[in-house]
Amino acid sequence: MRLTNSATHYGLVSKLLHWVIALSIIGLIWLGWYMVDLTYFDKWYNQSLAFHKAHGMLVLGLALVLFIWKIVSPSPAEVASMPSWQRVAAHAMHHILMLLMVAIPVSGYLISTSAGKPVSFFGLFDVPALFDKNEEVRDFAIDLHFYIAYGIGFLVLGHAGAAIKHQLIDRDGTLARMIWR
Ligand code: HEM
Ligand code: HEM
Repeated sequence: MRLTNSATHYGLVSKLLHWVIALSIIGLIWLGWYMVDLTYFDKWYNQSLAFHKAHGMLVLGLALVLFIWKIVSPSPAEVASMPSWQRVAAHAMHHILMLLMVAIPVSGYLISTSAGKPVSFFGLFDVPALFDKNEEVRDFAIDLHFYIAYGIGFLVLGHAGAAIKHQLIDRDGTLARMIWR
């Protein structure tokens, strides 16, 4: 399997980035949903939040790598046999998902920053807070993070549903070319 993308195929780098980012975001939506109901007395209270933040920052880094990679090795055009409105819709959806994969971790980082706290990246180094504690920004960031996270979850259902429908019903190889083709 080649590393770079061609006019019709995704290479290994794009495939790995897609699936690591996608599974991370899906896992972090689940973890976020689970951890907000934990109380201070729960033994996972601190660990789950620390892991959520560090892994979320990793997604931000990987999203930036994906954007640079798309400049170095442009992605293939949408599958040619699709009707043109579906190609436009898929293209738009991919761009919205790329915007949101940056907006989710940035809004999460804003929650931590507005508490005046740095984010530890798995104990390796700290991403410093940008400004002092600010309750108004924090309330806004918590709401923003909530809506973006569940919003992307909702869009991904449509995105994944379309990929599976194209693979199984239209049999145009859409899912195959993001996995093995
Ligand atoms: C949070 C989860 C996900 C995000 C953020 C996401 C995002 C993206 C993005 C940005 C692209 C365009 C890639 C590029 O041009 O380099 C893409 C393509 C693709 N995604 Fe996802 N994705 C997610 C989950 C999924 C899932 C669960 C599936 C399948 C079940 C899937 C199947 C595909 C396929 C098949 C393509 C290629 C489409 C084509 O060939 O035109 N994705 N995705
Ligand atoms: C891909 C990245 C991320 C996803 C998908 C994600 C998703 C979520 C979700 C679904 C929640 C639960 C919201 C609720 O039900 O109230 C949550 C909460 C939270 N997330 Fe994230 N998150 C991500 C990255 C981050 C990052 C990078 C940080 C900080 C550096 C962060 C900090 C937080 C905090 C502090 C909460 C708790 C908010 C509260 O007190 O209600 N998240 N996240």
